[in-house]
Amino acid sequence: MKVAVLGAAGGIGQALGLLLKTQLPAGSELSLYDIAPVTPGVAADLSHIPTDVKVTGFAGEDSSPALEGADVVLISAGVARKPGMDRSDLFNINAGIVKNLVSVCADTCPKALIGIITNPVNTTVAIAAEVLKAKGVYDPARLFGVTTLDVIRANTFVAEAKGLNPQDVDVPVIGGHSGVTILPLLSQSGATFTAEETAALTTRIQNAGTEVVEAKAGGGSATLSMGQAAARFGLSLVAALNGEENVVECTYVEGPGEKARFFAQPVLLGKNGVEKVLSYGDLTDFEADALNGALDTLKGDITLGEEFVKA
Ligand code: NAD
Ligand code: LMR
Repeated sequence: MKVAVLGAAGGIGQALGLLLKTQLPAGSELSLYDIAPVTPGVAADLSHIPTDVKVTGFAGEDSSPALEGADVVLISAGVARKPGMDRSDLFNINAGIVKNLVSVCADTCPKALIGIITNPVNTTVAIAAEVLKAKGVYDPARLFGVTTLDVIRANTFVAEAKGLNPQDVDVPVIGGHSGVTILPLLSQSGATFTAEETAALTTRIQNAGTEVVEAKAGGGSATLSMGQAAARFGLSLVAALNGEENVVECTYVEGPGEKARFFAQPVLLGKNGVEKVLSYGDLTDFEADALNGALDTLKGDITLGEEFVKA
């Protein structure tokens, strides 16, 4: 199994590289790419960790050597938020970066499963889909927006609020990955909450990215928790490709389109990527209202990505 990380010298990329080097199955390959010249050095550094995972590093303008033969590609290349910015403020720079990198994926590893981490995810996934479509290789089962950070945050915050072990909590998070489009289904967490608790926890999960951006005070956004989230998601993709059964993750995919063309919800993963988009079950009135209130924003984010590529 070969996993490529694009943006590998960045805050997320380095944390993700470390976790993959230590957790990928024996015999895997980890391929690191970033425009930053330090990238072969990051690979050399990781290669001294004694696991049976071969690490290679590539820097410069051409990402294709890193992508040859890749089964899974995780993309975190791009700029991160600073205080006062919204994720959509990253669009101007990151849209072009994702477009170019996915275009090389289409040419070099058209069958790879691609996980997009780069923000704004609601839009960059639509960009990736349109680029792959224009190249004639788009398979909706193979493209994912990585929204796992919302899930691990929801699990952590629910566990903190209820005195539980976070490992025992599993909160589905549906919708998208910014502001009101992030919708944790607290009613399915196994814990019970008052209406006030539900509203406050939902808002905290929606604003958790901003919490980190403000605490880092200009030094970037979540990297370590995101590295953990991306590793979990990437390892789930690898497990599913290796034939493991019942691998389920919430992720932002093009599914049946009942609510929006792209939508995050539980997905059964398999040897071809998305095996089945699963139902997210019944919503409470609070959750249904929150979802209805988020759909215009989500659809607008998606249209922005579609139009960017068409233009
Ligand atoms: P970072 O600045 O630390 O790292 C980004 C890396 O991308 C840098 O090493 C940079 O050299 C590289 N890069 C820039 N342009 C590139 C290109 N064209 N090709 C290859 N590499 C390129 O940022 P970070 O903290 O790692 O965040 C990366 C992205 O992930 C941001 O857009 C951020 O908003 C997003 N993010 C998403 C989530 C999520 O839940 N999906 C969570 C956290 C951060
Ligand atoms: C997050 O949720 O932490 C990321 O999307 C980064 C950000 O800008 O908030």
